[in-house]
Amino acid sequence: MSKILVETYGCQMNVSDSEKIISKLRGSGYDITATPEEADVIIINTCSIRSKAEHKVYSRIGEITQTSKRPLVGLMGCVAQLEGDRIFEHASQVAFVVGTGGISRISQVVERVLNGEKNVLDIEERAEEEDWDISPLERHSKYVAFIPIIEGCNKFCTYCIVPYSRGREKSRPADEIINEVLLLKAQGYKEIQLIGQNVNSYRPLTERGLEQYSGATSFSKLLRAVAATDMPRIKFTTSFPRDFHSDIVAAIEENDNLCNWVHLPVQSGNDRILKSMRRGYKTADYLRRIEPVLNSKRDIALTSDVIVGFPGESYQDFEDTLKLVEQCQFHGLYIFKYSQRNGTPASNLSNDIPEDIKTSRFLNLEILQRNIQKGIYEGYVGKSVSVLVEGLSARSADDLTGHTTCNKVVNFRGSSTLVGSIVNVGISEAKTNSLYGTLK
Ligand code: 5AD
Ligand code: SF4
Repeated sequence: MSKILVETYGCQMNVSDSEKIISKLRGSGYDITATPEEADVIIINTCSIRSKAEHKVYSRIGEITQTSKRPLVGLMGCVAQLEGDRIFEHASQVAFVVGTGGISRISQVVERVLNGEKNVLDIEERAEEEDWDISPLERHSKYVAFIPIIEGCNKFCTYCIVPYSRGREKSRPADEIINEVLLLKAQGYKEIQLIGQNVNSYRPLTERGLEQYSGATSFSKLLRAVAATDMPRIKFTTSFPRDFHSDIVAAIEENDNLCNWVHLPVQSGNDRILKSMRRGYKTADYLRRIEPVLNSKRDIALTSDVIVGFPGESYQDFEDTLKLVEQCQFHGLYIFKYSQRNGTPASNLSNDIPEDIKTSRFLNLEILQRNIQKGIYEGYVGKSVSVLVEGLSARSADDLTGHTTCNKVVNFRGSSTLVGSIVNVGISEAKTNSLYGTLK
């Protein structure tokens, strides 16, 4: 019996894809292992969002080749899709390359390489709706499940590789999503996260499953339909400013199980840079979009992404980003140094920003955000929050860890029998990226 290990890098979509890959392989009779030394085949599910992620793939292939058992190596995911058979030239140890559309065909590919075939390539498109059908048998958590609702992206922001690695937007039929949520609820899952590069532009081919629900957009209808399953917690990510309709906030306000969290990347606080990024909005538009979130009667936490050092970004442009971040008071912010991706329009722009300037802007923004977050996190001290207990804390064996509905990490002392339940925790201490408290 051949043993296969699947390693995952990158975003939640890759985590979700790996769950499907594992389910497919198990269904075909393969053993799945977590121990590299045991594996006959190691599949690396790759990410290409920034060059660092891509480099990691090649250094990982090198490491694997050093191991005594010399397993077969296969690449899947975004780097596989983009690089295709060029990978065989750069890394002769790689036995197969399967792109983002090939999950449903993975077992056949593995069989071929185990039979001695070399350089097996599959970067074909996904068979229509095929991969949606794979409901993973095992997931990264027993309590939190990722459910892809839309894949790909039609936005073509000038810096971003996703439209090339993941293709055009394809929405999953709503009735399938709802059935999966019902199944997960029956299995004891406490939280689902609806995922996609741009969930707000969810647009299924038919309204099947959404007929009874009102909503200004298909996505807000879907939120109401999923909320009606009574799954205890529902989160969604990622949103896109231009498609973020105020009806999404209305849906949250109507349903307690739609969580208090919106992730809405702004990317820059300067209109000229936003235009050069082709984001399709100005800072004033962004501020208007977030008004319903900030003014909501629910305590919704807003988080965001920012890229620093985009080509042509002057210090004044960067200062505009600092000002916007100050103004928005995000509960969390992912900061990225611009990374040039081959084949994207931004890769042809001149006025590259030197690495040391990117780093200094990154650190500058990080300090500002840390101060903002300090104030926000300290505001939770003395309050009681609801926490889904997801496991033991990595830091201390006596502590449990979980998330609030506003997606903050909370650690507290408690018995492991609480794992999987939703409890109230009184917050006593604020750390930079987490809260600490005691069970109520
Ligand atoms: N360089 C730096 N950051 C990027 N992101 C996407 N593409 C790039 C790139 N080429 C960031 C954006 C996006 C997040 C997922 O990754 O901020 O929102
Ligand atoms: Fe990339 Fe822009 Fe699409 Fe997000 S919206 S995946 S940043 S192209």
